[in-house]
Formats: sequence, C-alpha cells, structure tokens
Amino acid sequence: MSTTLVTGIAELVTNDPTHPDGDGSPLGVIEHAAVVTEGDRIAWVGRAQDAPDADERDDLDGRALVPAFVDSHSHLVFAGDRSAEFAARMTGTPYDGGGIAVSMAATRAASDDELRALVGRRVAEMRAQGTGVVEIKSGYGLSVADEARALRIAREFTDETTFLGAHVVPPEFRSDDASRASYVALVCGEMLQACAPHARWIDVFCEPHSEFAFTADESGQILTAGKEAGLELRVHGNQLGAGPGVQLAARLGAASVDHCTYLTDEDIASLAGSSTVATLLPGVEFSTRSPYPDARRLLDAGVTVALASDCNPGTCYSSSMPFAIAVAVRDMGMTPAQALHAATAGAAQSLRRDDIGVLRPGARAELTVLDAPSYLHLAYRPGVPIARRIDLG
Ligand code: NIG
Ligand code: FE
Repeated sequence: MSTTLVTGIAELVTNDPTHPDGDGSPLGVIEHAAVVTEGDRIAWVGRAQDAPDADERDDLDGRALVPAFVDSHSHLVFAGDRSAEFAARMTGTPYDGGGIAVSMAATRAASDDELRALVGRRVAEMRAQGTGVVEIKSGYGLSVADEARALRIAREFTDETTFLGAHVVPPEFRSDDASRASYVALVCGEMLQACAPHARWIDVFCEPHSEFAFTADESGQILTAGKEAGLELRVHGNQLGAGPGVQLAARLGAASVDHCTYLTDEDIASLAGSSTVATLLPGVEFSTRSPYPDARRLLDAGVTVALASDCNPGTCYSSSMPFAIAVAVRDMGMTPAQALHAATAGAAQSLRRDDIGVLRPGARAELTVLDAPSYLHLAYRPGVPIARRIDLG
C-alpha cells in the first residue's frame, strides 16, 4: 500500500490529548507537524523533524490540518425546497414542523435517479467544505416504500444511515387518534421491517410542541421497536420547547439527542449521568430565529457535545460545518477549540465511532486542510471557504 508524507503543517489538530508532542489540550495540537498515511489509514503523526520517509509527499505550505468534520445529523434525501417558508419565518412566522409534509410530497414525486443526483450533489457540497463522514436520515418518504427507497439511496453514500419514519405523522394519517395510532403501528411494524436492513440507526421527532411530531409514549414505542430490530438510537428532542425528548434519550441509552434548544436543569443532569451525546445544531436556531442553547451549561456539567449541520429543506438548508462552528462560537458560548472538538471528536462519539474525528495511527485518513495557519480561523473567517478535504492516494 502506498504511503504519503504530509508536511508543511503549521498547526495540526489531532484530538489526541495523549500525544507526547501535543499541547496536552483536548485538541492535542502539534505545531510544525507531519502526518504519514498508508492507504486509507493514518500511519504516523508527530513533529515534522521526526517524520519517517514515504512514497509520496504533499506539502501544505504552512496551513493548518484538522480531522475531517463529522456531520452526524443531516436529512439529505429530499426533493424541492422551502425557501418561501424560510422567508416567511424571517418576518415572524414560527416553525412548527408542518412544512415537512410539503417536502414529503415533492420527495415522493421524484424518481430514484433524481433523488440520487440531489443527494450526490449535497454530499459533494459537504466534502468541498471539509466534511468526511456524514450521517443521512430518511424522513421525507413516510410510507413503507418511500422510506425504504430513501434509505437505499442514502446507503449509496454512507454507512451512517438513519430510519426516521417517525419524522411527522403524514397527512393521510392525521384525521383522528385511531388513524394516528395506526401510523405509529406501521412505523413499528411493516415500515421498520422494510427499512432496518438499510439503516444503522433509528430516530424519532419527539416534540409535544408540534401537533405533527410524536409524544414521549409514541417515541418510546418506536425507539424500543427499533432497538429490538437491531438499530441503535438517536432522538430529535427539545427543539421547539422544553419536553421529554432529552430524558427519554438518556433513559433509553440513545447515542445522541439532537437540537437541545430548550434544556431544563433536570435535562442536563440526565445527560451528565448518561452516555448520550448532546448534539447542537446552530444552523437551525439561525434559520428559525429560535434562541440559541447555551453550550457552556452542557460542557460545565461534563456532557459530551457534538455539532452538526442538520442540513434539511426546512429548518437549515446549510451543509457547512464551518458555518455551524462559527455560529456556535459567536452565539452559543463555545470557544473555537470546543466547537472544533464538537464538530469532529464529539460528533464521532455521537456516532459511536473511534476511527474518525481523531488523527492517530490506525484511524481513518480523513483529513481537512484549512487555507489558514490555525483552526481559529474557522470561526474568525465566517463565510469564507477555507476548509476542504484532502484526498490522498
Ligand atoms: O431536524 N425537526 C425535525 N426535523 C428537521 C426539520 C425538518 C423539516 O422541517 O423539513 C430538523 O429540524
Ligand atoms: Fe434533524
């Protein structure tokens, strides 16, 4: 297997606090560093002066190198857009999840090839901005065939696929309580059977503040059925108001609870005593004019925090992790170091992966170079496309 020596790294973020050449911080920063890759893996990390030889060389000429961003929350399988809904929100219309049915109709009407091309374009957009592994959810099909199709297409782009049949109750099941209950039964039964072979995760939009989303009881039933079918758990929780999602996620051992826009002290205590990561999605508060959560409350309590894009047609049509980092620093009380850690190692932990989000021998060679001497520039230069993945070998 061919080896490549990456040199000229002014500042290397390893996320390995134990590296002897690192600064001892959680980011494990090494100055004047080098990395050697072998095939798709990291083979060596350290100071440039100590670097071994390799078959190829790549000189970064004084740039910073960081682990590729891990985008642990996205909804890329959709057709159409909801720019008019966004414009209405900017003049005061609140978000309530009702627009999901609009994207559902457009997605059902699209052909497989159209959807595949749309997802491909969005994944390429992410990679061009420094993202490596991306998680992709279904959730705009909301029928057995359309959910399974969304996951089959998502699987062509990532192993981190998530079944989100419980995104909202689709319009054809909203007439009364019995009809709604029959949708929950469908999600737990036939839809789960059809989708589980194409998914690693199951997710649910648990939100009492939306009439379209799912209660704690319904969410618990759906997540439990998913677990029995061999899927691991994620939850959309506490997005529109304080609610049961965070504590349900912690109680059921979900890998992650995402949004966490509104958190009580009890929510934070339940996360602190669990292995559930709190995934914050700054682009959502930005694009819905919701208040930003205070990430410091979580970090001070010892909760692991992740950042992700939530790229979707409703609450945040941004695929940019640098944008999420910049907003988290500007408006959520994170330091640039905490935000980068959350967008890499934190997000990897939310996917229960130890082979990404870190640069150490044996990890995947998922590298992002910055057209800047330091990772500080990610938040310092918002909107400037300084991050891109490097593809070696
Ligand atoms: O993560 N809240 C639920 N799901 C998405 C939004 C989906 C949409 O509005 O299309 C979210 O914010
Ligand atoms: Fe989401």
